[in-house]
Amino acid sequence: MQGLDTASRSHSVPPAPVIAIDGPSASGKGTVAQGVAGALGFHYLNSGALYRTVAVAATRARLDLENELGLHDIALNINAKFYGDHVELEGQDVTDAIRTEAISEAASRIAAFPKVRSALLERQRKFRRLPGLVADGRDMGTVVFPDAALKIFLTASPEERAARRYKQLMEKGMSANMAALLQDIRARDGRDSDRAAAPLQKSADAILIDTTRMSVAEAIAQVLALYKQASRAP
Ligand code: DC
Repeated sequence: MQGLDTASRSHSVPPAPVIAIDGPSASGKGTVAQGVAGALGFHYLNSGALYRTVAVAATRARLDLENELGLHDIALNINAKFYGDHVELEGQDVTDAIRTEAISEAASRIAAFPKVRSALLERQRKFRRLPGLVADGRDMGTVVFPDAALKIFLTASPEERAARRYKQLMEKGMSANMAALLQDIRARDGRDSDRAAAPLQKSADAILIDTTRMSVAEAIAQVLALYKQASRAP
């Protein structure tokens, strides 16, 4: 039996490669991650959308956002489907609902609870399928996929990120205030970085890319070049 086990192990297929792209909100990591996934034909996980969808479900259930056990229950049992940029919750399109400023704030608050994070762990890992996965979030390289083939920490100055969000909202015909957006971004950075559970931080093995003065196309090209290098390395 032992021989058989050894034989089957030696023929086991290596797990699908993962490119982990972490960084603060509005750093452009979603756009870059999708571009990289498209170029490589890889699957894509937007983990922030998962936290945002839990926030929408909790808000709709009128749950107290400090109720960690209730949030854990929702995170474990949530019926959510992701189709590229589109998100469905209980069969209903919530693509726009997960993007409001109120839900950004709620998602950041509920994401600080260890029980919410642990409830979403396996669900995130299920996105790892051949030929590969590009995953973006805060803890992709540190917690969810610590064995990622490439770990990127993508950032930009708070002012640049606020300006990008402002432009996005204007393009959608929504109103926005630059000073308020900058304040929100700073507050969310603080909450995401200072929490005890999986705080946003660049790990020693992640490569820093600052996109403050970089186009999306340049950032995608840089990640692709780094992945080529990493997958060639012994
Ligand atoms: O990436 P995003 O801004 O859409 O994420 C929304 C919130 O979810 C953000 O405030 C932090 C949290 N989040 C997290 O804690 N861990 C992740 N892997 C992804 C998002």
